[in-house]
Amino acid sequence: MRLKICDNPQQVGYLAAADIALQLNTKKNSTLILPTGSTPLPVYESIIKMYKNGDVSFGDAVTFNLDEYIGIAEDHAERYYNFMMRNLFSKVDIKPENINIPDSRTDDPDGECKRYEEKYRKTGGADLAVLGIGQNGHIGFNEPGTPFSSVTHVTSIAESTVKANSRFFDNEAQVPKKAMTMGISTILSAKKIILLATGKSKHDILIKLLQQTSANESIPATALLLHDDAVIYADREAITG
Ligand code: GLP
Repeated sequence: MRLKICDNPQQVGYLAAADIALQLNTKKNSTLILPTGSTPLPVYESIIKMYKNGDVSFGDAVTFNLDEYIGIAEDHAERYYNFMMRNLFSKVDIKPENINIPDSRTDDPDGECKRYEEKYRKTGGADLAVLGIGQNGHIGFNEPGTPFSSVTHVTSIAESTVKANSRFFDNEAQVPKKAMTMGISTILSAKKIILLATGKSKHDILIKLLQQTSANESIPATALLLHDDAVIYADREAITG
């Protein structure tokens, strides 16, 4: 697991966007795993600029999002489908049929997870995965204790994550308590992984992650220690606190 320290979140965003562009320019029909949250917003801003400048195309790209809430209103701004449409997909040339996000409208979340995992595995594994990290070390919605062998599954969102994500909702009670998420083994199947960590709120978990010498399920992001091409892009604030 390598570490690259950047001056600020914009530089983190630019670096990750440049990696996505390089991936898509090397192999047009690349499969990407993509995150939501506030951390990837500068990545999406940068890649949209690159697209507008003609430096990258999503014309043949296939994307799989990491996760989605269960029981969220179809038109809610925090439904990850709506988040992705608003912040990336409506602004680049990706084909709607190449966008994959677990479907929050399903009445069979377990079946939806199985379908999602099967569809993802048919791609042969992602070429590049971009991840954020939760303050408790979660990746996707894989909360502490999730087995590293996990595939896409229904999960309960940890209380601390509900609290952290309540800033995007009117109040804490409105944050869904369940989600569908790619599993840790699903994520590790990507050929290259970039984990983004920016801002003071990620300082404690980032330092804890960097101190680990072996992967352990109590800190889900330590799974990256099992991968041979994983890099952390952090900003100075996340490093210094
Ligand atoms: C959410 C998402 C994660 C994301 C994390 C951090 O719960 N499920 O995929 O990485 O929280 O979010 P943020 O970037 O807003 O700190």
